[in-house]
Amino acid sequence: MDLQLKGRVAVVTGASKGIGLAVADAFAREGVHVVAGSRSVTPELEALRDKYGVTAVSVDLSTVDGPGALVGRAVDQYGRVDILVNNLGAATPRPSFLDIDDAEWRRIFDLTLFSAIRASRAALPRLLDADGGAIINISSINARLPFPSVVDYSAAKAGLASLTKSLSEEFAPRGVRVNAIAPGPVRTPFWTAPGGFAEAAAAQAGTTAQEAMDVVVPRSMGISTGRVTEAREVADLALFLASPLAGNITGAEFTIDGGQVKTV
Ligand SMILES: NC(=O)c1ccc[n+]([C@@H]2O[C@H](COP(=O)([O-])OP(=O)(O)OC[C@H]3O[C@@H](n4cnc5c(N)ncnc54)[C@H](OP(=O)(O)O)[C@@H]3O)[C@@H](O)[C@H]2O)c1
Repeated sequence: MDLQLKGRVAVVTGASKGIGLAVADAFAREGVHVVAGSRSVTPELEALRDKYGVTAVSVDLSTVDGPGALVGRAVDQYGRVDILVNNLGAATPRPSFLDIDDAEWRRIFDLTLFSAIRASRAALPRLLDADGGAIINISSINARLPFPSVVDYSAAKAGLASLTKSLSEEFAPRGVRVNAIAPGPVRTPFWTAPGGFAEAAAAQAGTTAQEAMDVVVPRSMGISTGRVTEAREVADLALFLASPLAGNITGAEFTIDGGQVKTV
């Protein structure tokens, strides 16, 4: 299937690993010029730079100026931006709402919601000039489900869901589509890094982090397919939403969770 994305310019936030890396990879394979932002440039991102010419920008996207600087880099290099993937987001598991102070709420909101607000504000003037601009926000099923251990992250994702809908309403008449993807658990360093959610699940179940990802998490979270999502599967959905083939899809949120969310 020709996704008609060749030659377009995409900015991807949080792209050195996990879903952002998979998105950068998938877009680059389709012939998209990718400008990828993260604090570090990992060997995997360097490989995309060498193979497809992906531009890897080292930037702290939790700062006021970081997202604008990333978008500016794409404009400097290509003179345009056609696609923005707001992928950056972060969560720290904690025992209770009562353990989260103001500074932590602000940190999680800067990473998870304000990075998307700031990148969208910087990119929209360019997206409006594009022939069919698109924003894809990587949200989470946590935006709608109660997860007390990540209450700050969940609230930030609910804000991102609202932002998706509001931006889609304002900018659809001017040719920019805005959609969200809401994954359940995805096999990325978010889960698998030392001290991450997989280790926490493993400690509770008395098993290894690998076994937790493969068996314990799908079972305990009620994932009907029996497995977590792979980052490449989220990237493939983002590819379709960025494509002109999805030209009349806007203001929508697509869950990719193996059937974890049971409500209609
Ligand atoms: N994995 C899941 O189960 C899951 C489920 C639902 C939704 N999501 C959402 O999907 C998105 C991606 O998650 P993921 O699992 O791929 O995360 P991840 O594996 O933790 O990767 C996070 C990415 O963000 C970058 N990053 C972190 N802090 C940054 C900062 N201050 N400035 C710039 N870049 C920064 C990291 O690179 P550096 O460390 O090099 O900066 C890395 O490339 C997030 O919005 C997350 O909420 C994930």
